[in-house]
Amino acid sequence: MLEQDIQEILFSEEQLKERVQAIARQIEADYEGREVMLISVLRGSFVFMADLCRALKLPCTMDFMSVSSYGSGTSSSGQVQITKDLSEDITGRHVIVLEDILDSGNTLSYLLNILEHRHPASVRLCALLDKPDRRVKPVELHYCGFTIPDAFVVGYGLDYDQHYRNLPYIGILKPEVYGG
Ligand code: IMP
Ligand code: MG
Repeated sequence: MLEQDIQEILFSEEQLKERVQAIARQIEADYEGREVMLISVLRGSFVFMADLCRALKLPCTMDFMSVSSYGSGTSSSGQVQITKDLSEDITGRHVIVLEDILDSGNTLSYLLNILEHRHPASVRLCALLDKPDRRVKPVELHYCGFTIPDAFVVGYGLDYDQHYRNLPYIGILKPEVYGG
């Protein structure tokens, strides 16, 4: 049922696993001897967070926040709202924000700005996917899984209308599914 809505598999389970391991090695090298605080932006990054945190051989804590950016089915708008804030104080911490995908940049430019005002020791952004063609707001991306073309993708945490998050791979959704 889920599979028949997928036009093409972009990244297999195996490819995702390898890439997550490589990002973990990069982070370990950059934060050697320090403790990091991983912040997962819900809901799309929960699978990535679960895999990356287990790949990471560094002391770390985890927290979660949720934002909604109002827009139509497949694009976000500039209006972002925090719907669930962090449980922990980030003052003086080395924060890495984990996102599923960096698209227009609206959500993350807003979110990173809020976090920087809370005086962490540092903030970096780690996104599994980057869709640079769609960028409206510039956002600095420190760790990137894969750069992808302008297509709507689902799976490995990413949804369309809250579905397909449980696919173990990342695939392009058939445009007829969302009326594209
Ligand atoms: P931005 O504010 O446009 O950068 O939107 C980022 C958010 O839009 C992501 O966290 C996703 O939740 C969602 N999004 C953007 N592109 C896709 C996609 O191709 N598939 C699924 N969700 C997407
Ligand atoms: Mg989403």
